[in-house]
Amino acid sequence: MKTMKWKNNKLILIDQTKLPDELSYFTCENYKDVIVAIKTMVVRGAPAIGVAAAFGMVLGDLAGENLDQVAEEIKTSRPTAVNLFWAVDRVLESENPLEEALTMYEEDIETNLAIGKNGAEIISDGDTILTHCNAGALACVDYGTALGVIRSAYNEKKDIDVICDETRPLGQGARLSVWEMQQENIPVKLIPDVAAGYLMQKEEVDKVVIGADRVAKDGIVNKIGSLMIALAAKRFNVLFYVAAPLSTFDHDISIYDTEIEERGSEEVTRYGGSRICPERTEVRNPAFDIVPKDLITGIITEKGIIDPEKFDEFFEKLKE
Ligand code: MRU
Repeated sequence: MKTMKWKNNKLILIDQTKLPDELSYFTCENYKDVIVAIKTMVVRGAPAIGVAAAFGMVLGDLAGENLDQVAEEIKTSRPTAVNLFWAVDRVLESENPLEEALTMYEEDIETNLAIGKNGAEIISDGDTILTHCNAGALACVDYGTALGVIRSAYNEKKDIDVICDETRPLGQGARLSVWEMQQENIPVKLIPDVAAGYLMQKEEVDKVVIGADRVAKDGIVNKIGSLMIALAAKRFNVLFYVAAPLSTFDHDISIYDTEIEERGSEEVTRYGGSRICPERTEVRNPAFDIVPKDLITGIITEKGIIDPEKFDEFFEKLKE
C-alpha cells in the first residue's frame, strides 16, 4: 500500500481523515492543495509529510511559481516534523525538483525496510509490543518506521502481539495503526491511551516501539502521549524504542527548542461528531510530546540502533 502516488503531474494521497471507514483519495493539482492536505491531516506522519511537501515543490515548479516563496509557504503548514523542512530544502537545492522528489519517494521505502530489518533484531518471539499513534506505512510512503519494525518481526515469523494506543484526540492509533495491522493479519488489540500504564504494571507489555517527528541531541519529539508512555515504561522496566530515519534527526538543537504544534480546540471538545464537554470550554491541545533521552532505550535507524547516550559518537561515525 502506498500512501501517495505521483501520476499525470498530480499528487494523489490516501485521504487519512476518512480511514478506516473509507479508502478514498485526495488529489493535489497545485502546491496549495498540498498545504491544505498537510494542514487538515489528509496526509500526516513525519516522513509522509516530507515527501508530500517535496511533491508540493514540484507542483509549484511546474506552475512556474517562485520556488523560494513556495518553499516558505509549504514550511508554514505544520511546525514540528523536521522532515517537512528537510524535504523542502532538499528540493529547493536540487537541479531537477521532480527527479529529486521521486528519489526521496523511493529512498523513503528503502529506508523503512532497513529500519524494519534493524529493528526486528530487538523483537523476541512471544513479545507484546505497544505502539502509539501511527508510525506505519500511512505515515511514510510505505512500510512504516515503528510499524515497519513490527512488520519485519512478523515476516520473520516471530510470534508477536501488538497493542495500539487509541491516540486521542485524533485517534491515529485506533483508526490507522489497527487498520494497518489488520490488513496483514498481525495480531492487534486496541486500548484507551490511559490503559498503557496499567498494562505495563501488569507485565503485559515487553517493548514499546514508537516513531518520532524529530530526534534532537537530548531526546525525541513525538505524538502527545509519548511522554507518559515513556515514564511508565521506565517505572516498570519496559524497553522503550524509537524508530526513525536519519531525515528526522536534527542533531544541533535541543528537544526543548522544538516548536510544538497546538491544534484546534474542536479536536478535543468533540468526539465522533458530538460535543463531549460544556459549550465554551477552554482547551489546550498540544499535538506533540518531548521525551528526554534518559527515558529511551535505543533509536532504531536505517544505519543501526543508537544508544541515545552515544549520539555524538554515532554522528561522528556517519561522517567518516
Ligand atoms: O500528528 P501526526 O499524526 O502527524 O503525528 C504523527 C506521529 O507522531 C508519528 O509518530 C511520527 O510522525 C512518526 S511517523 C513515521
